[in-house]
Amino acid sequence: MKKTILVTGAAGFIGSHLAEHLLRRGDRVVGLDNLNTAYDPARKRANLAGVQAAAHQLHQWEFVQGDIRDAALLDRLFDENAFDAVAHLAAMTGIGVSIEDPQLYFEVNLLGTLNLLNAAKQHLVGNFVFASTSSVYGGGSAIPFVETEPCDRPLAPYPASKRAAEMLGFSYHHLYGLNCTVVRFFSVYGPRNRPDSLACQVADGICRQKKVRLFRKGQMHRDWIFIDDLVRGIATATDRPLGYEIINLGRGEPVLVADFVGLLEKHSCARAHLIEALLPDMDVPCAFANIEKARCLLEFQPAVSVEEGVERFWQWYAGQNLRV
Ligand SMILES: NC(=O)c1ccc[n+]([C@@H]2O[C@H](COP(=O)([O-])OP(=O)(O)OC[C@H]3O[C@@H](n4cnc5c(N)ncnc54)[C@H](O)[C@@H]3O)[C@@H](O)[C@H]2O)c1
Repeated sequence: MKKTILVTGAAGFIGSHLAEHLLRRGDRVVGLDNLNTAYDPARKRANLAGVQAAAHQLHQWEFVQGDIRDAALLDRLFDENAFDAVAHLAAMTGIGVSIEDPQLYFEVNLLGTLNLLNAAKQHLVGNFVFASTSSVYGGGSAIPFVETEPCDRPLAPYPASKRAAEMLGFSYHHLYGLNCTVVRFFSVYGPRNRPDSLACQVADGICRQKKVRLFRKGQMHRDWIFIDDLVRGIATATDRPLGYEIINLGRGEPVLVADFVGLLEKHSCARAHLIEALLPDMDVPCAFANIEKARCLLEFQPAVSVEEGVERFWQWYAGQNLRV
């Protein structure tokens, strides 16, 4: 059955792909995003144009420019639409910036989420999916990361704000019976990647002969998950009310950052100008997802290899940046 789904952060990298995916399978989607200036809003408008193109019918897609901190706006939005599910992706992202402005990260990532949980509770929404992050595992978790880890030692305000919001989701499940699934994303990459992502930074460095800082000479592991695979996992989570669950969404196969950079060099036929840097206190040398729970509860099966995904990323990047 076709559903009406609210996607917050719909103009962003992951939100725009998710909205497109849901539209393609026939759902009605309302996208909410404040188009903030964390990076160039023109990129977000371009993402929205891609989403619009995926709508089959006039009323299938609606975009609302607004802020999740605005509880009155949310109330109106939930009144006007009988949402079957909420996919809450809007957030201040980026670990480093969260150290400079922790207040903003908590206002958006925790209080904004509280507003949405309240609206979902009051309007009896059937399922609430919350985008969290692998960085909640911090430095002390056993590898590979399993959802049962306590995650009570976040290394920066960004993961602290996400972990706090995850726990608030549990309270709303416990008190009001709200179905809440927390999906913890690992390193997501693909077309429309944020400009601060490693993939975009290395690609920019290659194209503009700029130096790129690489921690530990790239001798650290990340669990890269291609956007199409991730979005399938999130969409399935919106379809399945599970009570309260936390589910890792990664590929379950960590790859050295140096190898990821090497693939970008291979596809661009150019060398990146890398400079060595020390791993900052807020970062970890290895992020590696155990995805058994996602396989079991969401039939999650990442299909895109890192080799193929980087090639697809590069095709998109070159199309945007190397037009003659
Ligand atoms: N990209 C990754 O590798 C990754 C990894 C782990 C978790 N995540 C999570 O996935 C989600 C999406 O990340 P992304 O990479 O697409 O980032 P993004 O910055 O491209 O998208 C986030 C969107 O949220 C919007 N937004 C921010 N504050 C808002 C507010 N107050 N009200 C309304 N909209 C607001 C922004 O304008 C932006 O378009 C985030 O919750 C992020 O924490 C991403």
